[in-house]
Amino acid sequence: MNMFKKLTLSALLALGFGASGAMAAGDYETKVVDYDFSFEGPFGAYDVNQLQRGLQVYTEICSACHGLKFVPIRTLGDEGGPHLPEEQVIEYAKQYEVYDPDIDDFREATPPDHFPASNIENAPDLSLMAKKRAGFHGPYGLGINQLVRGMGGAEYIASLLAGYTGEEKEQAGVIFYENTAFSSQWIAMAPPLYGDDVEFADGAPTDVESLSQDVSAFLMWTAEPKLMARKQAGFAGVIFLTLLSVLLYLTNKRLWAPVKKKMKE
Ligand code: HEC
Repeated sequence: MNMFKKLTLSALLALGFGASGAMAAGDYETKVVDYDFSFEGPFGAYDVNQLQRGLQVYTEICSACHGLKFVPIRTLGDEGGPHLPEEQVIEYAKQYEVYDPDIDDFREATPPDHFPASNIENAPDLSLMAKKRAGFHGPYGLGINQLVRGMGGAEYIASLLAGYTGEEKEQAGVIFYENTAFSSQWIAMAPPLYGDDVEFADGAPTDVESLSQDVSAFLMWTAEPKLMARKQAGFAGVIFLTLLSVLLYLTNKRLWAPVKKKMKE
């Protein structure tokens, strides 16, 4: 490697690893923790148990305000997702009511229905939130942090849920809570998690950080349910292209061999 290449590479690495996930919004520096999720990296996959725990946190806590209106309930049974048994999906659906235009009334939800929309007007739908927000930015708008650590949507949500400082203030009758991950520092969502908010059948830890990561992993799945299939297709593509390159190289040699031989004579 020549000197120039070495220099640029070390500069890139220094920028990527050195600069924190912080983003400047005004004069406020947000903090996004680079959690290790099982689905990261080229070989990463969703952890089924974690998705099921995250679904439980969403159901018992977040669904009071937030909807998942783009997610069909039946996908909870999908392989590569929470992978619930069919009877459990049917049972799960029953707790929601959906509006059915055919009968012009509300009825119990069934697996083909979608999750309901948000209950509270200013609580955003969470179906695609993990792809809508980026946890890592910069440096200087170059996106190198994202190249090295990924978009960080799940990290952002986890950092947001665990990022309350306990400070609050009232503005025009609305209470805002200080949060170290939120871009404007003050968020209108009261801290939804305090630790031990749910009880897990698998005995997994229920501190705020663990719960935040579980529900964030689940929200990553709702935003990108085909992540594993996409990675597999990518691999098949890379292997195919490698083989094709070898074959084309050999074909090329073979085709030009007589010509080259003649030129030598
Ligand atoms: C009591 C209602 C309520 C509950 C419960 C609640 N939220 Fe929220 N959430 C809100 C409101 C309101 C906002 C909009 C806040 C704002 O924009 O200032 C919000 C915003 C958000 C955002 C978007 C932040 C952004 O960058 O704009 C995320 C992500 C989020 N909530 C995740 C969750 C998760 C995950 C849970 C469950 C652990 C949860 N919320 C529980 C009311 C709630």
